[in-house]
Amino acid sequence: MQEKQRQILITSALPYANGAIHIGHLVEYIQTDIWVRFQKMQGHICYYVCADDAHGTPIMLRAQQDGITPEALIERIAAEHQADFKAFSVAFDNFYSTHSDENRMLTNTIYTTLDKKGHINKRTIKQAYDPEKKMFLPDRFIRGECPECGSADQYGDSCESCGATYSPTDLKNPVSAVSGATPIEKESEHYFFKLGDFADMLRKWIRAGHLQAEVANKLNEWFEAGLQEWDISRDAPYFGFEIPHAPGKYFYVWLDAPVGYLASFQNLCDKTQLDFDTWCKAGSNTEMYHFIGKDIIYFHALFWPAILEGSGFRTPTAIFAHGFLTVNGQKMSKSRGTFITARTYLNHLDPEYLRYYFAVKSGSGIDDIDLNLEDFQARVNADLVGKVINIASRCAGFIKKRFAGKLAATIHDETLLKTMVDSNNAIAKAYAAREYAKAMREITTLADKVNQYIDDQKPWIIAKQDGRDDELQAVCTMGINGFRLLVLYLKPVLPVLAVKTENFLNIAPMQWQDVADTLTEHTINAFKPLLTRVEKKHITAMIENSKEDLNAHGSAQVAATTPLADKPIADTISIEDFMKLDLRIAKIIKAETVEGADKLLQLTLDIGGESRKVFAGIKAAYSAAELEGKLTVMVANLAPRKMRFGLSEGMILVAGAGGRELFILSPDQGAEPGMRVK
Ligand code: MSP
Ligand code: ZN
Repeated sequence: MQEKQRQILITSALPYANGAIHIGHLVEYIQTDIWVRFQKMQGHICYYVCADDAHGTPIMLRAQQDGITPEALIERIAAEHQADFKAFSVAFDNFYSTHSDENRMLTNTIYTTLDKKGHINKRTIKQAYDPEKKMFLPDRFIRGECPECGSADQYGDSCESCGATYSPTDLKNPVSAVSGATPIEKESEHYFFKLGDFADMLRKWIRAGHLQAEVANKLNEWFEAGLQEWDISRDAPYFGFEIPHAPGKYFYVWLDAPVGYLASFQNLCDKTQLDFDTWCKAGSNTEMYHFIGKDIIYFHALFWPAILEGSGFRTPTAIFAHGFLTVNGQKMSKSRGTFITARTYLNHLDPEYLRYYFAVKSGSGIDDIDLNLEDFQARVNADLVGKVINIASRCAGFIKKRFAGKLAATIHDETLLKTMVDSNNAIAKAYAAREYAKAMREITTLADKVNQYIDDQKPWIIAKQDGRDDELQAVCTMGINGFRLLVLYLKPVLPVLAVKTENFLNIAPMQWQDVADTLTEHTINAFKPLLTRVEKKHITAMIENSKEDLNAHGSAQVAATTPLADKPIADTISIEDFMKLDLRIAKIIKAETVEGADKLLQLTLDIGGESRKVFAGIKAAYSAAELEGKLTVMVANLAPRKMRFGLSEGMILVAGAGGRELFILSPDQGAEPGMRVK
């Protein structure tokens, strides 16, 4: 039964343009891409759009730190993001940027409409301000002692140590993470979106089937807590769009970010003669879905529908939230090597493995998803390569060698084939409901049946017996037909395997309705390996590669506490090698912050009458003042290195994992600057 053709606009959340795509992000882009490919295979009209989220303070500061304009930064990142997505077969119909004319226009229109209808408020608020850097500080850029537990160096909005949440004014001994200065309080006029105006609309909307049950429940809790006005403006300096008729005031990045979905689609419409209004204006009878992570539900399920409603646009058909990725049961971690970027993954492993594994682990809920690396290897090798790909390699050789590539005229086991074809409804239903794990289980069960059939028929024995050629051809033809169906069902997940298979089978690109076809009296091409097994050594190499380069910033840091025997940091060296090091006691005579660098301090060291300037990435762990006068140990004969902020003439020795967890080494009492350390 063919559904009527639907018109569907699909989005994934817009990745921030200040960092690389990592495997956590990929959960979302892969889940969305599978759904899009499935809907397209069903014959629906689908557009999958996305963009870089290019605005906001972190991007502005990151560009400053790199000594480039924000425009140059976002351009570079856009190219990197798109290359990563392409490599993982995440096939957007359009990938754009929130820093675009279309987005500026749409954001202005939406804001102006909301303002005209009285949904915007202005009022003066007090906020933390960095008097040195002359900018208001977002909560995340203020550090200080937790008001609850006293832990040092916590963010302005929450404590990583005890989990308390508070406002930055509660922090004890706050400092600006941008300049190190003590923030002051300063007043400024802000613009607010009156979310409460939409309380009735939202109350209905939340319960109208647009959200997953657990998401709707969560929103109800927020609802009970009351809908606050939403602060949508930020003061200059800010990288974003200036608010019309409000010089020096900018739209907060989270206002124009979701508008970026529409802007990317608008850009696509302009290129392809699609009608934007038909799709996006209120009353549209097309569908619109947003795939997002559970951390950004509030923005998508409250603010966004209210803003769309208030400005005459259509609201989302549904929002699909997913959980977070863990690796081996834990949060992704740089020191464990499980903070894996898309690029590092690609340098070691085939992207289709990850697409398959994420599918195996994905349901329609918001539970976190664990990438267990042993299970990853087992599932790909045993199920995908061992069960699915294996069918083709068991049958293709005979067809090619003994029958010049020609398949038999009939299907040998009609019942088995019918079982496989009949499964298509259940599999399609699972895909449509984003129950990919269920779809993968159904497909693996079918693969088991085909393998059982081949085991029973034993083509390798038939092949050795005279006069059984027809039987051999029939059995292998059956196997190939089974394989074709399995790959058709896997096509949304494994598009590269599907194309290779279509070439091998010498058939047109498969659509879902092709399930009913059979391949008989048809000539196929020679079989080439379609997908190889995952090797443990490649996984290990990827993890090693992902471990943060702990020597990045001019100080030698000993990686955190792994037993030496398990994890030597370097090869064994001879005493001669060790003697090549000129280690000296150094006195820190001056420690200074470095303009534009958030991790570095510049140290002036006295090594006995000679002074050296080095950069050390220890700013998160030490204040400049507490270092001055201290004795430490330096590598004095390290070749000077030109760094972004100047020349580093050696390095000091530091222990610890990095960030705040760093300890400089100091000699026992009596040591003097310039003394050799050996
Ligand atoms: N820029 C915002 C989204 C704006 S949408 C109008 C943002 N960007 S992000 O780069 O931080 O995240 C992009 C998407 O990736 C989000 O949906 C986020 O939930 C998801 N993920 C980021 N890290 C993730 C994991 N570790 N695991 C799963 N998804 C994760 O948020
Ligand atoms: Zn605390």
